[in-house]
Amino acid sequence: MSGLKLWGTGSGVPSEILTNEGFAKLVDTSDEWITTRTGISSRRRCAPGETHTGLCLAAARQAMERAGVSPDQIGVCVVATLTPDRLTPATACVLQKELGLEEDTVCFDLNAACSGFVYALHTAQCLLAAATRKFGLVIGAEVLSRVTDYTDRGTCVLFGDGAGAAVLEWREDYPSIHAVLGCRGNTENLLIPGVAVGVPSYIHMDGQPVFRFAVETVPQCITQVLERAGLGVEDVDRFVFHQANQRIIDMAVKKLNLPPEKCTGNIDHTGNTSAASVPLLLDELVRDGAVRRGQRVLCVGFGGGLTWAGALLELA
Ligand code: UT7
Repeated sequence: MSGLKLWGTGSGVPSEILTNEGFAKLVDTSDEWITTRTGISSRRRCAPGETHTGLCLAAARQAMERAGVSPDQIGVCVVATLTPDRLTPATACVLQKELGLEEDTVCFDLNAACSGFVYALHTAQCLLAAATRKFGLVIGAEVLSRVTDYTDRGTCVLFGDGAGAAVLEWREDYPSIHAVLGCRGNTENLLIPGVAVGVPSYIHMDGQPVFRFAVETVPQCITQVLERAGLGVEDVDRFVFHQANQRIIDMAVKKLNLPPEKCTGNIDHTGNTSAASVPLLLDELVRDGAVRRGQRVLCVGFGGGLTWAGALLELA
């Protein structure tokens, strides 16, 4: 047996709050439509001067402080994102400098869209097994407002900005996270064209096929993680879903007969923050005392790629 335990979490939260009522003044929508179709009431957006790197730094510093881990104990730093400040250097490289991580720390960004944080957890587990320093810093961060078309009511009401961080330790006697990662390549239903097509480059999403994909893969992914770990639903203290749509979460809860009180989220005030959504929720749950030392959390992400990812995390 070998694996990870979670020592600390942190958040980087932008200052602007966008309400549903505010969107109703921008596009042809209503608070009623947005809340009933998605569960979202408000989301955060970076104000001028607030950056992706700044959100990452805030989240990372908080997580390291709460974990009681210093920069020279970190062996791996992975940032999951699709909206970094620059294509290169990677955000993780900027964090190496700003946080004072050692120069032989493995630092890079990873793009697995909304599954990114869980992909990064698995990546960190693999890399830390071979590293000399056994603490890892894993961040999910997005400034989706950069790639949001605020004239498209079908997407603009969904997305928010933010960053969440986790400090993890790898040890021989810690449990594996039993990650299940998957991908079904699709360039049509959910994409951001990016530099290949020039600017501006906005999120394009066909909501319904992506919704159906999520409703199919999320319960499967959770079941596979539990099978791999040899555990049942009752052995998990909390399910942390990617916050894309409350209706997707409700359907998974129903299908797997999960206790709803173990599945509460924060989509109402975050919106969909892609790679940041799982670690932001994790941090909120830790801060609220809803997950505590020794407890087991099952994280599940899904989205662009199309990708999905699930993993178990135990709090140290
Ligand atoms: O994080 C990555 C993974 N992403 C997801 O998992 C998202 C999956 N998809 C979804 O969550 C949902 O499909 C959406 C929330 C994106 C859309 O909800 P929906 O219930 O699937 O709505 P729809 O796209 O089928 O649209 C229904 C109607 C349409 O009008 P008509 O054609 O029926 O007249 C849309 O034009 O709702 C209209 N509509 C809106 N109306 C008011 C779409 N957006 C809005 C809006 N306000 N903001």
